[in-house]
Amino acid sequence: MAIRRAVIFLGPPGAGKGTQAKRIARLCGVPHLSTGDMMRDAVSRGTDLGKAVGPIMQRGELVSDDLVMKMIEERLAQPDCAAGCLFDGFPRTLPQAEGLDRILERSGFGEPLVVDLAVGDDKLLRRLTGRRTCSVGGEIYNVYDLPPKVNGICDNDGGKLVQRADDTAEVVKQRLAAYERATKPLTEYYRSRGVLQVVDASVSMDEISRALGEIVKCAEGRNGHL
Ligand code: AP5
Repeated sequence: MAIRRAVIFLGPPGAGKGTQAKRIARLCGVPHLSTGDMMRDAVSRGTDLGKAVGPIMQRGELVSDDLVMKMIEERLAQPDCAAGCLFDGFPRTLPQAEGLDRILERSGFGEPLVVDLAVGDDKLLRRLTGRRTCSVGGEIYNVYDLPPKVNGICDNDGGKLVQRADDTAEVVKQRLAAYERATKPLTEYYRSRGVLQVVDASVSMDEISRALGEIVKCAEGRNGHL
């Protein structure tokens, strides 16, 4: 499947953006750009960026737009993004969405394809506190809904499964508040431009993947390329 534009997955923490982005990016053959993963990597490597953003992420607050935009601009300049990419967790504020619009226009990309993974708060706490992530390859599990074959060990590469520091009930509350305040308004921003699709993300992971696969295929069909 060829892709020639940016795809954006919106949705609250725990909606399944990362889980689905891995699958759909693989299907489309484009890089999966998760600002959360990039910043966690910087934290674990102890870089200056990591030292700046670590405490903010730990509190469940949003990192400043300036830092996020600088990181994204650098990443988008890499050759693997030339045919498009899939954003997960970005943009998250109106200034980030406007900044991305300017970058896409400069790069000759058309309107992004934006998908809102919609799910009620009642499911999110269980998903987030049950999440475990492979410390080697980043595969995402869930102790309730998607456990590994061997407790604590990744099925794919044998890596140790770890719990994210911001997946505690207290921090999740802050993250959900930040989503409601700063990110949810982006659905209207994109809906008003006619580029927003909404997918029910309260159902099973495979059902969501099927719905997303159809959206991506339809968008590709209309334009000759996605
Ligand atoms: P980030 O890493 O982006 O986290 P998030 O948006 O809070 O989203 P999550 O990764 O928690 O959830 P997800 O939707 O990807 O769900 P997942 O697929 O893992 O951001 C972390 C922090 O970084 C932010 O708080 C902020 O500080 C900072 N940050 C990042 N980007 C930023 C930006 N642009 N601007 C400013 N600050 C930024 O699934 C969750 C769990 O549910 C898994 O266990 C999974 O197995 C399970 N699951 C998934 N789908 C289903 C399903 N359908 N049914 C049952 N279980 C499911």
